[in-house]
Amino acid sequence: MASAELIEGLNHALNREVSTFLRYMLQGASIKGAQWAPAREMYLGEVTDEVGHALYLAEKIVMLGGTPMLDPDLTPPPSDVRKMLENDIAQEQIDVKGYIKLAELADKEGLADLKLRMEDQAADEAGHAEAMQRLLG
Ligand SMILES: [Fe+2]
Ligand SMILES: [Fe+2]
Repeated sequence: MASAELIEGLNHALNREVSTFLRYMLQGASIKGAQWAPAREMYLGEVTDEVGHALYLAEKIVMLGGTPMLDPDLTPPPSDVRKMLENDIAQEQIDVKGYIKLAELADKEGLADLKLRMEDQAADEAGHAEAMQRLLG
């Protein structure tokens, strides 16, 4: 059985993921201008990654006896592409730390598969931050 702390942490991560894929979808759809075409493609491409993270978390919460609770952040994103990228780099870095913490918690609770998956998701988010950093130059 998973602890309430772990279920709560997974639900927090689920909401961060749902907020992220909604934001990336909107930002990808909104970006115009040939010079920002790579940023648009990056955002639209990452929507799928973040949906995959969210789906894994929702299913895992259920399998551990919890209930997925949705309360996403619907704050409108910035319209300036550089601001989007700077904001999202910071958010991706927060996600890396969050997944490392969840991996440690899962390890303590003997959930080896969850620990590995949380480490994978941490690495995915670190890769997203790097891709955005590259676009900023
Ligand atoms: Fe993610
Ligand atoms: Fe990400």
